[in-house]
Amino acid sequence: MQEILEKIRSFKQQLNAIILAHNYQPGEIQDMADFTGDSLGLSIKAAQTDAEVIVFCGVFFMAETAAILSPKKTVLLPEKHAGCPMADMITAEQLMDLKREHPDALVVCYVNSPAEVKAESDYCCTSANAVEVVKSLPVNKKIIFVPDKYLGGFVAEKTHRDIILWPGYCPTHVMITEDDIKKAKARYPNAIVMAHPECTKPVRILSDQILSTGQMLNFVKNSDIKQFIVATETDIIHALKKENPNAEFIAACPKAVCPNMKKITLEKILWAVENLAQGGSKYIITVPKETAIRAKKAIDRMINVLPSK
Ligand code: 13P
Ligand code: SF4
Repeated sequence: MQEILEKIRSFKQQLNAIILAHNYQPGEIQDMADFTGDSLGLSIKAAQTDAEVIVFCGVFFMAETAAILSPKKTVLLPEKHAGCPMADMITAEQLMDLKREHPDALVVCYVNSPAEVKAESDYCCTSANAVEVVKSLPVNKKIIFVPDKYLGGFVAEKTHRDIILWPGYCPTHVMITEDDIKKAKARYPNAIVMAHPECTKPVRILSDQILSTGQMLNFVKNSDIKQFIVATETDIIHALKKENPNAEFIAACPKAVCPNMKKITLEKILWAVENLAQGGSKYIITVPKETAIRAKKAIDRMINVLPSK
C-alpha cells in the first residue's frame, strides 16, 4: 500500500493534481485524499481549486459536476462505471415531458442527476442546501423536484411549498428501515439519531436530526453528546470516528453500503493518474460544451445559496 501511495503522490506532483473524496469513500481513500466532503463541499472545492487536474473519488455525477464547474481543468474518475442509480432514474427527455405538463413550474434538480437533467433545470441543490434553495424561490411558483422523492418530500414539509415529485430514490438509503431505527434506539436509548434526507419518511420521523453528510460531521463536532446512531451510508462513520475519537457511532443498518462508491480503489487511482501522465485519456470525464454551459447556470445558482449548518 505504501508503494502505491508513493507512486500516486509522485504522479500528483507531476500533474499538479488534487484528490477529492466523498464521505462515503472507503476509509483508505478518505485518508489519502487532499479534501473530503459532502456533495456541496466537493462542488465548491472543484470550482475553487488551482490544481490543473482533479481526481474525483466518488460517483459519476460528482465528477461530471466538477467538469462542468471547472471546464479548463482535467477531471478524472478512476472508475467510469461508478454510477449513481438514483441519478439514472431520470432522463432529460422525461424532465422535458414533465416541464410541458407544468409549464409555469420552476425546476430544482438534486445534484445526484445527469448533466443533461441539470441543463434542463433552473436550480441545482444538494442535501445540504435543498431547503434553502427552495425557500429562495418565489412563493407563487410551483416547483418540480427531481429525482429523489424522499429528499423532495422532506423539502416540501420544511418549506410548505407545492412540490411535484419524481419517483426516484437511493437504493442504499431505502435499505435503512423504520425497524432498524427502533431497534437501535431500544439498544442505545441515550444516542442521537442522525439520518440523511435520502432516507424514507418513516425513518426520518424517528430521527432527531436530518443532515447531509457534511452537516453530520459539523453537528457531531459541535455537540456534547457522545453516542450517535447513524442512518446513512456506513463509511461516513470512518470520517466521524477520525474527527471524534471519543464518541461512539452505531450504523443504523450495516447493510447500507453504496456499491458504486466502493468501486474506487487505490490501484485504480494510480492507474488513472499514470494513464494521464502517459498522455492517455481513459479516465477523463467531459461534458459537451452546450450542456455544460446550461447545467452550470443551475449549479452556480445553488452555490450562491448558503448551506444550512
Ligand atoms: P451528501 O454527501 O451531499 O450528503 O450526499 C449524499 C449522497 O448520497 C451522495 O451520493
Ligand atoms: Fe447514489 Fe445512493 Fe450511492 Fe449516493 S448513496 S451515490 S445517492 S446510490
